[in-house]
Amino acid sequence: MLKKIKETTSFIKQNIKNIPEVGIILGTGLGGLAKVIELEKTIKYEDIVNFPVSTVEGHSGQLIFGKLGGKNIVAMQGRFHYYEGYTMQEVTFPVRVMKFLGIKYLFLSNASGGINPDYKVGDLMILKDHINLFPTNPLIGKNIEELGPRFPDMSDAYNKELVNKAVDIAKANDIKINQGVYAGLSGPTFETPSEYLYIRKIGADAVGMSTVPEVIVARHMAIPCFAVSIITDSGVPGEIVEVTHQEVQEVASKAEPKMTLIFEKLLETL
Ligand code: HPA
Repeated sequence: MLKKIKETTSFIKQNIKNIPEVGIILGTGLGGLAKVIELEKTIKYEDIVNFPVSTVEGHSGQLIFGKLGGKNIVAMQGRFHYYEGYTMQEVTFPVRVMKFLGIKYLFLSNASGGINPDYKVGDLMILKDHINLFPTNPLIGKNIEELGPRFPDMSDAYNKELVNKAVDIAKANDIKINQGVYAGLSGPTFETPSEYLYIRKIGADAVGMSTVPEVIVARHMAIPCFAVSIITDSGVPGEIVEVTHQEVQEVASKAEPKMTLIFEKLLETL
């Protein structure tokens, strides 16, 4: 794996001028952030050596290099999901590469179902912690000491300083903000009402199909993480209605400017 990470990193470095300081992973319906990046270069995933090959969805996305909030960033427009059939190593490979490129922080976004009854569809939730409900963990297998420790600490998965700054930014800009726990599971099915209830009972506020693997791998390499969920549908008893991927995308796109503003202002503080 190490050889592949290094190969991909050097391939990308040959194609860019500025080394990114921050990596950003854009979730479902949240690609709008890309429009405000001062663009330097885009590279399609299919053109990147060793990047996972797209399975189901035609073209899988691209890396965007440029400036946002005065910082050199690399954004993943489109991520790899476990439910698509990628291994956990494939899902998280780009995070490894971003670390080797030089990122000092990782920002992530996702669409999720709200299970805290105080949350409304269209709300934002800053992740203060997560629960890994995926059937596996991306760090299973032989540990590569050069990447990180065998038993990584997860007590500070989401950087408190970044969370506090983001809460202040949201308040200063009149954006309603929640802080909560994200449960990550495989999908691709949305949850049954009983599953939503179960996930609520074990302490989560929102549930989705991403983010957790990438954060685990980022923390393995000691990268401070910051993540935002858009609540795109409700898993609260009495509020549950049929949910489609299209609705998830629509709600996420509508809420996206609020998330972009928080990311941009937070970048300015780094
Ligand atoms: N459950 C799981 N993943 C999701 C949901 C949900 O309700 N909404 C958006 N992604």
